[in-house]
Amino acid sequence: MNEDAKIYLAGHRGLVGSAILRSLQIKGYTNIITRTHAELDLLNQDAVHSFFTTEKPGYVFLAAAKVGGIGANSTYPVEFLYLNTLIGFNVVHAAYTAGVKKLMNLGSTCIYPKMAEQPIKEESLLTGLLEPTNDAYALAKISVIKLCTAYNKQYGTNYLSVMPTNLYGIGDNYDLENSHVLPAMIRKFHEAKVSGVNQVVLWGDGSPLREFLYSDDLADAVVYLMEQKNAGDIHHSAGDFINIGSGQELTIKELAETVRSVVYAQELAMGNTSPDRVCHITWDSSKPNGTPRKLCDVSRLSTLGFTPKIGLCEGITKAYTDFLNEDYCK
Ligand SMILES: NC(=O)c1ccc[n+]([C@@H]2O[C@H](COP(=O)([O-])OP(=O)(O)OC[C@H]3O[C@@H](n4cnc5c(N)ncnc54)[C@H](OP(=O)(O)O)[C@@H]3O)[C@@H](O)[C@H]2O)c1
Repeated sequence: MNEDAKIYLAGHRGLVGSAILRSLQIKGYTNIITRTHAELDLLNQDAVHSFFTTEKPGYVFLAAAKVGGIGANSTYPVEFLYLNTLIGFNVVHAAYTAGVKKLMNLGSTCIYPKMAEQPIKEESLLTGLLEPTNDAYALAKISVIKLCTAYNKQYGTNYLSVMPTNLYGIGDNYDLENSHVLPAMIRKFHEAKVSGVNQVVLWGDGSPLREFLYSDDLADAVVYLMEQKNAGDIHHSAGDFINIGSGQELTIKELAETVRSVVYAQELAMGNTSPDRVCHITWDSSKPNGTPRKLCDVSRLSTLGFTPKIGLCEGITKAYTDFLNEDYCK
């Protein structure tokens, strides 16, 4: 990609899209086209087609999607399947019609079978049953990945898909109804601190193992792949896609303790009290733990030369600073 290459970034205001925008701008790309949802509804096939025909971008990042946590996924399977399939199919097909050189499709590790062997390799796609609470979303994502691979196979296009692990970062969703675990913890500890309650109740028993990646690391990986690699470089028997993760796992309990150490950093710095006295964590074991372990195998990404830079404590500190600056609780 040349610095003046015309790049369409779909979903530029989301967690992932905004991080990709920052990464592209830092690297000096100057010709980035964006449209808000209101300006271009990606569900509208005619509008998408006309946009691509008029703008003729050379490169596309597809980071627009209907996204939500476990509650939203299991309550609204129609929206998660229908909207995500339509958005993906409209954009990928229009990109082909307009002769786009290269496309980067954002998938998710929820595409993998519920009982996939850990760490999860790309080849485990479609080797078992999906997690039922998000199978609608996963099926939409799988369809778009397969469509990209099909275009590559049938028409020799250069469409890559990435499967990021759990993400967090600047501009995250802190709505307790539909946020992911890490931003929900930031909000809960923050609210406990400002209200002086100094106690939080968290779901499950804290034992599940999870992996997290700071959104700017994901964005740098995605831009790196777009710049340096082709679909053929990430091709394997299950398709043209690649995992993106930190490769590091920790328990939910360790995550909670890390978030607490960031939110209560000043109090703990005084050094005359224990973290548990500063804020007590109660585990509500009547609530589900979810799958016991979920970790991506990122050996393919490492082999291609990318390693994330931002550690968990540093990333949570950046996210909490953004949370404080933006006042997401309003
Ligand atoms: N967040 C994670 O932990 C995570 C993990 C793995 C993979 N991913 C993947 O990364 C991608 C982006 O996720 P995200 O977390 O950044 O989501 P997000 O913060 O909810 O952002 C989604 C973006 O999509 C846009 N959008 C939704 N429907 C649209 C439509 N019909 N027309 C035009 N734009 C539309 C939204 O625009 P408006 O703001 O204008 O509505 C928003 O900018 C998704 O494919 C997701 O599967 C995310």
